[in-house]
Amino acid sequence: MSDKRFTTLALKEMKQKKEKIAMITAYDYPTAQIADEAGAETILVGDSLGNVVLGYKDTLSVTLEDMIHHGKAVVRGSEKAFVIVDMPFLTYEISAEEALGNAGRIIQQTGAQGVKLEGGTEITAAVKSITGAGIPVVGHLGLTPQSVGQLGGYKVQGRTPAVAKKIIEDTVALEKAGAFMVVLECIPWQLAKVITEKVSIPIIGIGAGKYCDGQVLVFHDVMGLYTGRRPKFVKEYASAREAMLKGVHEYISELKEGAFPTEEHSYTMPKETLAEIREG
Ligand code: KIV
Repeated sequence: MSDKRFTTLALKEMKQKKEKIAMITAYDYPTAQIADEAGAETILVGDSLGNVVLGYKDTLSVTLEDMIHHGKAVVRGSEKAFVIVDMPFLTYEISAEEALGNAGRIIQQTGAQGVKLEGGTEITAAVKSITGAGIPVVGHLGLTPQSVGQLGGYKVQGRTPAVAKKIIEDTVALEKAGAFMVVLECIPWQLAKVITEKVSIPIIGIGAGKYCDGQVLVFHDVMGLYTGRRPKFVKEYASAREAMLKGVHEYISELKEGAFPTEEHSYTMPKETLAEIREG
């Protein structure tokens, strides 16, 4: 593990000093390089990989092997960011022992610094087991995409007193179980503010308003690369898809017109060698 990277301690201190923590997802070497160079303190190898990179309709098909494969590339592409890898569906729910084994594989094989799990009180045994082995854990509450079937779709969570109270209780339970950070997705900003003020661990929001200790967005959403569902909380900061499409169009047009490749992009050889090979 590189000692140049942000640590759990440094991230906790950022909360205390009220410095905002930037998190962005990355899935491969170039996206990790960009996120790291731009200054994100944390990079999440999210299982949104399933939607934005692998073309699945949800995150449920993503496997441990997928996460390890992409996690390795992200760690290679980053130097300073604290890299968190999502534990995919059914890799931590079955037993606390299995959760620890799978978290251990992620950390050992990718070189990442932490793992993220979705859920509250029902996963605290897994969180205790993983943190007990010294692996930093991030929780994820609110809209938890691995439970999209049970939640009845990608909807705002915590608008009723019962669900809001459950999200508060779950955050406190995760903190007690040893999680060092929690992501809150798609909940009212007022609820996120209450939670952020209540716990001592950093709260990272996505569709949870501005009062969280930090924010996370999906790389492909930020860059305008994804053509699927675009939630209200997404802000596009670049039109990378447009730029990429234009580039590939131009390449194909120039190729068809004979404008590419030119001498500038070609290698040459001595005349004598050419004569020799022509003579056979
Ligand atoms: O998988 C992911 O990208 C995530 C973020 C949306 C928080 O879990």
